[in-house]
Formats: sequence, C-alpha cells, structure tokens
Amino acid sequence: MEIKTAIYAAILTGSLAFLTYFGSSCGSSKDLPTPEKQTLREAVFPFGGAISPEFLKNDTQYRELAAREFSSITAEYVMKMTAISRGKDVYDFAAADEIIDFARKNKMRVHGHTLVWYRETPEWLKNYTGTREDFIMLLEKYIKAVAGHFKGKVVSWDVVNEALLDDGSIRIEENIWYQKIGLEYIEIAFRAAHKADPDALLFYNEYGQEYSKVKSDAVNKLMDELIEKRVPIHGIGLQMHTNANINDLQLKQAVRDAGAKGLKVHISELDVQTNMENNSDYVFTEESALKQKEVYRWATEAMMELPANQRFGITFWGVTDQYSWRWLYEGIPDKVLPFSEKYEHKPGYKGILEGLKEK
Ligand code: G3I
Repeated sequence: MEIKTAIYAAILTGSLAFLTYFGSSCGSSKDLPTPEKQTLREAVFPFGGAISPEFLKNDTQYRELAAREFSSITAEYVMKMTAISRGKDVYDFAAADEIIDFARKNKMRVHGHTLVWYRETPEWLKNYTGTREDFIMLLEKYIKAVAGHFKGKVVSWDVVNEALLDDGSIRIEENIWYQKIGLEYIEIAFRAAHKADPDALLFYNEYGQEYSKVKSDAVNKLMDELIEKRVPIHGIGLQMHTNANINDLQLKQAVRDAGAKGLKVHISELDVQTNMENNSDYVFTEESALKQKEVYRWATEAMMELPANQRFGITFWGVTDQYSWRWLYEGIPDKVLPFSEKYEHKPGYKGILEGLKEK
C-alpha cells in the first residue's frame, strides 16, 4: 500500500476508532459497554453501587472498580440518621463527606440514602419525649440540616424508606415517626426535603414490589395520594433485593407499574440471592451464576423498557461479593452482586450487557 494511502487509512481508521469509542461513550445504547473496552459508565442510563467509606479508604481494588464501573453512588450506611445524628441538633457529616469527595473526584452522581427510616434511629431520639408538634419540628429540623448540608452535592434522596409492610399496610410497629406523628410524617418529610433543597429529586424507596403485587399496588397507591396532595415527589425506588427464583414477568410488571404515573424509577438496591435456604454451607455454583445472570438481565431490560426520562438508573447494593451486606451483616454465604470477591465480572455482568441491547 502506498505510504500516503497507508497514512490516510490510518487517519481514517484512527478517527473511526475515536468516534466509535467517544461516540458510544456518549451513551448511545446501540454501542454496548464490553468488559474489554468499556464499562457500565458508558451505558444509556446510570449504573451505581452502595459504597462504604471504610472500604474506599482501605481497598484499592474496591475503589478502582467503583470508579471504573459506576456513574452514581449511594452511601450504604453513612447518610443514615444513626451515622449522622450525634444528638438533638448535633450532626457529624465527616464519613458522609468522604463519599461526596470520592464522587466529586470521579464525576459521579450521589443519591442520598436515607432521610427518614424506621430503622437506624439514634438512642437519643428513642428516649426523646415531646408532643406531636415537637416531633414534627424535630423531623423538619433534621431534614433541613442534612439535606441542606448536602445541597448541590446530593442530586436525589430516598426521603422516606420502607414505610409499608408486605401486606401493603402502613408500618406502625418499630416506626417512631408514625407513632409520634402519624401517617402525615411522610408528606411532612417530603415537603421539608424540598424546602431544604428545591433542586433535589425526591424518592420514596421500598422493597418487595417485584415479588408482591399487593405491596407494589400499595406503594403506587401511596404515590397517587402524595401526588394528589401535591407533595413534591419525583421518583420511586424499588430496592429489588431479589433472588434467583423471581418471576421475570412479575419483576418487569413491578417496574412498569412504578413508572406508570410518569415518576422516575430507580432500581435502588439490586442484588440477587441464590442461596435460597440461607444454608451456612452453601456453594455458589455455575448454575447459580447462570440463574443470577438471567435476573440481572431482566432488571436491566425492565429499566430499558421505561421512557428514557424515567430511567433514573440501577444501583447495586454493594461493589463486590466480598463486602455484600448479605455476608457481612446477615452472615449468609452467598454471592449476590455482578462483581466477584476477586473484583471480576460474573455472568451477571454479561446479563446486564445483554439487557442493555436495544430490542
Ligand atoms: O460503622 C459501624 C462500626 O463503626 C461499628 O464498629 C460496627 C459495630 O457493629 O457497626 C458499624 O455500622 C454498621 C453499618 O452497617 C456500617 O457498616 C451497622 O452495625 C450495621 O447495622 C449496618 O448495616 C447496614 C443496614 O442497612 C442497617 O443500616 C448494612 O450495611 C446495609 O447494607 C443495609 O442496607 C439496607 C438499606 O439501607 C435499606 N434496604 C435494606 C438494606 C439491607 O438491609
């Protein structure tokens, strides 16, 4: 080949390569992230993970995988009330600010989790005595302080987490917010969050919609009631701590139903259990991995089926199997994430890539 032609061809292929890479990195869904070349950061909607500052600090591979694959992160624990609230009107944001700093350095979105939950309420709150009005003021003040501190750094919040039981009824037992304020605590929380950060996208976050139509309908009914009252709410989180036995149609219908009112939809805590009996001597097999791969594909396809402006994204509940809550805090031997304890792509990752394909 003549030199001139060779140089021209090199320039042409070079520019084609450039376009292929950067063109697809603009998120066109037809160019799939492939493990060799690209990562989930080039996907058509954000993928993320629940992050712990402790592992960011101490584990280089953890930090590198998160930075390589995620365009969005959620604090697994350090933005919860027990992690921030040291007493009435006393806040400690140090650990949460480490998450913000990591996100800033890696150009990631931060999703806040969670302003109001029946769990992780500090001892001082449990011992606090006051009237309903006192608790309303306390709740509003806490949300103002926390959402205000992260204003401009946290783009979205799980304002209220897990307010419903599996039978669709409101969670009363163990729920100090309901017991002291009543059902109105939910709308009070959303209004306070919107007042503290009018730009933040506000979500209601729940588990179980994919396996319980009763619960899914109850969540969507609650959303309708809040929208009816003109409560500032922008999205629904389906935690989707799901498992290898889930029915694909039921999973996809839950996501479809969540999107039916036009709210943004976040699959907010995705992991896929395969140790169905919680056996202490469980072994994650090739068969487990392939069943898990299908569920990761279904969840991705469900997000892809939504209108683009409603695809808030998919957040895995963790980064690597090694530190998954299932193992660390539940003590259940299982490998629930798409990234192994060796920080490698599991078949579930390939299932996600397959789910990203335009149908
Ligand atoms: O950080 C402290 C450490 O300083 C202390 O020495 C240690 C003593 O036990 O506790 C550590 O805090 C733990 C925290 O995770 C951070 O690692 C808490 O004990 C532990 O209870 C907490 O568990 C978290 C759990 O929520 C309760 O907040 C899990 O990591 C987290 O994966 C789990 O996530 C929840 C979502 O928020 C809501 N949806 C369900 C999901 C799974 O339960």
